[in-house]
Amino acid sequence: MSEKMKNRREFLAAVGAAGAASILVGSGEVRGGPASEGKARLAIDGGTPVRKKPLSSPPYGPQFYDDVEKKELIEVLESKSPFRWGVPGSKALKFEKAYAKHIGVKYAIGVTSGTTALYTAMAAIGIGPGDEVILPAWTWYADYDAVVLCGSLPVFAEIDESLAIDPNDIEARITPRTKAIVPSHLQGGVADMDAILAIARKHKLFVVEDCAQCCGGRYKGRYVGSIGDMGINSFQLSKTITAGEGGAVTTNDPKLFERALRFHSVGSLPSPYKEELNGGLLAAFASCNFRMNEFTGAVLFGQVQKLDAISKAVRNNNRKVREGIADLPGLKLRKSADTEGDLGMTVFLTMETKQRRDKFLRALRAEGISASPPGGSVVLPSDTRIENKLTIHPDWPTFQTPQGKAIQYGADSCPRTIDILDRTGGVLMNPMHTDEDVKDIVTAIRKVYLAMVG
Ligand SMILES: Cc1ncc(COP(=O)(O)O)c(C=O)c1O
Repeated sequence: MSEKMKNRREFLAAVGAAGAASILVGSGEVRGGPASEGKARLAIDGGTPVRKKPLSSPPYGPQFYDDVEKKELIEVLESKSPFRWGVPGSKALKFEKAYAKHIGVKYAIGVTSGTTALYTAMAAIGIGPGDEVILPAWTWYADYDAVVLCGSLPVFAEIDESLAIDPNDIEARITPRTKAIVPSHLQGGVADMDAILAIARKHKLFVVEDCAQCCGGRYKGRYVGSIGDMGINSFQLSKTITAGEGGAVTTNDPKLFERALRFHSVGSLPSPYKEELNGGLLAAFASCNFRMNEFTGAVLFGQVQKLDAISKAVRNNNRKVREGIADLPGLKLRKSADTEGDLGMTVFLTMETKQRRDKFLRALRAEGISASPPGGSVVLPSDTRIENKLTIHPDWPTFQTPQGKAIQYGADSCPRTIDILDRTGGVLMNPMHTDEDVKDIVTAIRKVYLAMVG
């Protein structure tokens, strides 16, 4: 427990939660004292809302656009060279080098999206028909789609209260055909990488980290995307940094890098990577074009320089809220594999029932606070197109193997995931939230929570 936390706890114990005039939050102070707490009429019941103007949480990256991105973009326009290869001072290349350095990996490749980054990573590790890949039952479509597009079979494991894949549910899903695990770091939270890597090493499986919802997150001091065999990221609008669209593939392995590089650029190995890889070791194979253009590279080169500032701001705001509500009786915050490294995009609470969760979120929204169930991902096994195994072609290899024919998706295949998500809800945090905004969030959560337990 931090010194600050201990002092705050001591303070509360000394005055008694019901008698304190105010609650300390980080270095600031939260208005509204526990003396009146739990007694105020909720806005949902006709009381005065904590905020008159509802608190919003716009996408992070664009709020930080400034002359840095502008200068990079204008340089591309003036150069009249928006295609990445063969351009001296390529912005896409500058972004790749900066991003690789930032997260601490040898190689990064800029691509067109997180989805194409996943497809590229699957191609790099050589996923194909007959192979199986383990995914969390709650994540984004792209994880499933990339595996299916390779002709291999997605196998789902349950999530736990961290909202990431439950390492205890992975091993039972492993078969002789399993080739990889994709732990998604969802909603700013990090998956339990030590446990996942231990299982992967034991069974000789690849680990591809999906960091799309956790760009800037860290696990035990290392940036996500630098821990598994490969990492992917997305720079679509709702992500930590953005160019509207965009993605990246990361690795420390030169062979995986070369395969990914070739796959994302029609099998080619252009300069300067050809020289960096001493001409390359591998032959070209059937590939795609997912190259990043120079405009996207320009914006992302600007954004990556702000990644730490954005992450720090949202993480700090999240910490202040958690500290401001820590003494609430029976409070269950989202479990975290690394609280310090968690990006903190949402302050999640888990309730006993879905009804209570829904009531809690409705009441918070009436107080003017952006509150919602876990979003940005899907319970994939219960999605219609997945449950019905719909693919590009009826003879698609994924579902032609005995395992592919036998596998049954659907809600019944992931009851624990559905139960946890049904009982979880949270407040969306933002790097641009002011101290006053943070105080309002704390006041509203305390007001609603205490009214509900009271
Ligand atoms: C976990 C996760 N993986 C992959 C993606 C795909 O990224 P993109 O939208 O850039 O294709 C997303 C997008 O939201 C995501 O949330």
